[in-house]
Order: sequence, then C-alpha cells, then structure tokens
Amino acid sequence: MIRTLAQLEVEHRRVLVRVDFNVPLTPEQKVRDDTRIRAALPTIQAISDRGGIPILLSHLGRPKGARSPAFSLRPVAEHLESLVGKSVHFGQDCIGDPARAAIEQARPGDIVLLENLRFHPEEEANDPTFAAMLAALGDAYVNDAFGAAHRAHASISAITEHFVGRRAVGLLMERELAYLSKVFHDPPRPFVAIVGGAKVSDKIRVLESLLERADAVLIGGGMANTFLAAQGHGIGDSIFDERYLSHAKSLYQRYPTKLILPTDAVLADELSDTAPVTVLDLQQIPTETELRILDIGPDTIATFQDAISTAALVLWNGPMGAFEFKQFRKGTIAIATAVAQATDRGATTIVGGGDSIAAIAMAGVSDRITHVSTGGGATLEYLEGKPLPGIVALEE
Ligand code: 3PG
Repeated sequence: MIRTLAQLEVEHRRVLVRVDFNVPLTPEQKVRDDTRIRAALPTIQAISDRGGIPILLSHLGRPKGARSPAFSLRPVAEHLESLVGKSVHFGQDCIGDPARAAIEQARPGDIVLLENLRFHPEEEANDPTFAAMLAALGDAYVNDAFGAAHRAHASISAITEHFVGRRAVGLLMERELAYLSKVFHDPPRPFVAIVGGAKVSDKIRVLESLLERADAVLIGGGMANTFLAAQGHGIGDSIFDERYLSHAKSLYQRYPTKLILPTDAVLADELSDTAPVTVLDLQQIPTETELRILDIGPDTIATFQDAISTAALVLWNGPMGAFEFKQFRKGTIAIATAVAQATDRGATTIVGGGDSIAAIAMAGVSDRITHVSTGGGATLEYLEGKPLPGIVALEE
C-alpha cells in the first residue's frame, strides 16, 4: 500500500517534500514558466495548513554533479515566495549546516526550499550516505515530484528507507497517476503521439512501446535528427545521438507507416533571435555544412497538423525545435495550436514535459488542453508499463 498525504502525520513535523521544480529559466535567471511550481502548491499548502513545515527538495537542469550558479534554485525560491505570499527560506545547500540553518529559521506556516540536489553527484548515483544526510533534515517524507518519478535518485529512492511508516505520495503525483492510468488502459482512438525535444537517449527507449500503443507517432525536434541520420539523410551539424542510430533504423523499418518523420526543416548556423534561416527539404540538406536543423519546416507542419486533426487522443511531449528563439518557434507553436484545436473539437489532449508546458503557455493555449502533465520522461516511462522508481519506493 502507498500512504496518501491525508494519512500522514504532519503536525509539528518537518516534512521533506520532493518536488519537481525543474522549470525553464530566462537568461536573466527568472522563472519562464511556473506550471510545475503551481502544480505542487496544493501539497505544500496542505502540509502548512495542518501545522507542518514543508522542506522542499528539487533538482534543476543537469549541472552534472557540480555547483553552478546557472542551475541555482534561488530564483525559484523567490518566485515561490511571490506565489504563496509566505516566507520561503532558501538553504544554500541541500545538506549540512546551510540546509539546517534555513530550516531552523522557519516558523510554522513558512516554507523551506533547499539548493539544487544535483550539485552533488551522489544524488543521481542514489548514494545511501547522501540519502541519509537528506533524511536527517526531516521527520516525514512526501514525494510529489511526478516529473522525476522515473529517476532512481537519492532524494526519490534511497531516502525513503529512512521513513518507513512516515512516507507518503503527494497530491499532484496522485492526480497525475489517476489521470494517466485511466486514459492509457483504454485509449480513445485514433491515438496520435508527438515526441520531440533534445533528450534523445531517454525518449528513444520508450518510443517502442508508444509505437505499439499509438496509431501514429510524429517525431520532431532533436529526436528526429537521429532517425533522419539513420535513414542516410544529411543533417549537417545538428544534434543527434550516434549510439541510437541502429535502434532508430530498426524502429523505422518495423513501423514505416506509423512513425512519421519530418520532410523539411528550418536550418541556421547559430542559435539566436536574429539568425538568418534556410528552409530545405530533407534531400537538400548537405552532410558537410555548419547548418543545424532547428525547427520543422512548413510541409512537416502541414503533415503533423493533418494527423492531429483526426485524433481522438493526442499525447505531446517535447518541442519541435529550439523554440526559445523567435526564428525556430513556428513548428512548436503550430503544433501547440493544432493540439488545442483538437481539444476544441472533443479530443482528449495530454501535454507533458517542462518545455512543452512552456510552449503551450507561449502559444496562449494552456487552458485548451485536457490535461497538462508535469511529467515529460516520467509520463513516457509510465506508458511503457515500467514501474516508476519514485512510486515503488513509497510502497509499504
Ligand atoms: C524532467 O524535466 O523531465 C524531469 O525534471 C527530470 O529531469 P531529467 O530528465 O534531467 O532527469
């Protein structure tokens, strides 16, 4: 059984809450999209209301085990404070004296947010000693980080051993699981999945199960480049993952009609709002060029729009290009709009992942999506039918 938050004693307790505050930041270090922060507020509020002190643990980005100001959670603490109107005490480290100092300052009703867990390589290594140091900071543990539930990391997995009988699932995590399980045990059809983004190695593994379940899988973003390279297309200087070329090739051979790849692309040799761009059909992209594929082209947009327009269930995860820059945003915004139109005509639409959430906000369609999921990779791995480490670790 897994204890719910309502079943957990929190009064007068310091409650460690693993949240997923891995949110996009602007170059000025401001929160660009706060969907994931807002989504965790009901759990934080419930603990505060019941007389507990929520001590929030999170990662931000991939700082590779080293302290780096660009990955600090401080801007998130400031943003959280403005959202809740309560004091948020920021701990300059997630363990040791800096963490304890922030916790000691907190009065009932206050919130504590500790610095990025991934500044310590032990977090991703699921290190038991590091987990024990985190655990020493709290009296009870709640996991509300649905977006990170697929990671067997110290703050998600090893830490739970210290809270037998005092660990629970958060409200957001519960809501996400209830929603996704309902939809995926009996998906409305046609079921169209759209997968993009740059986390190729993570997502390519789950594509197989998606291809088994969905009626069409549209691939864009950095993800598509690995497939295009595997097909023998020139992709210039674009990002792709060499390790997965043969896997991509075999997936395409097995699902030649279900797996839909871009047929044209927007290219440039720099990532900026003013970069000169070229639109080319795939056959025209030379192998030796400094140009990179940075968005899907107009033909691909039309093909993807067509597929989405017939779907009864749409699942979207990962942008179609480098949408943070004006020049490479058209594809992602067009897909966001097409997904919103699908909702308008009665389809069920699920959009997940930090970047996709930011993209629907940018397109102004967030309220025209059936379910905005805080999980990107987590949603995809859930779909694979694999047990999520974050859930397994809560079992009693
Ligand atoms: C996400 O954004 O999918 C989660 O926060 C997990 O981040 P990660 O892929 O860097 O582990």
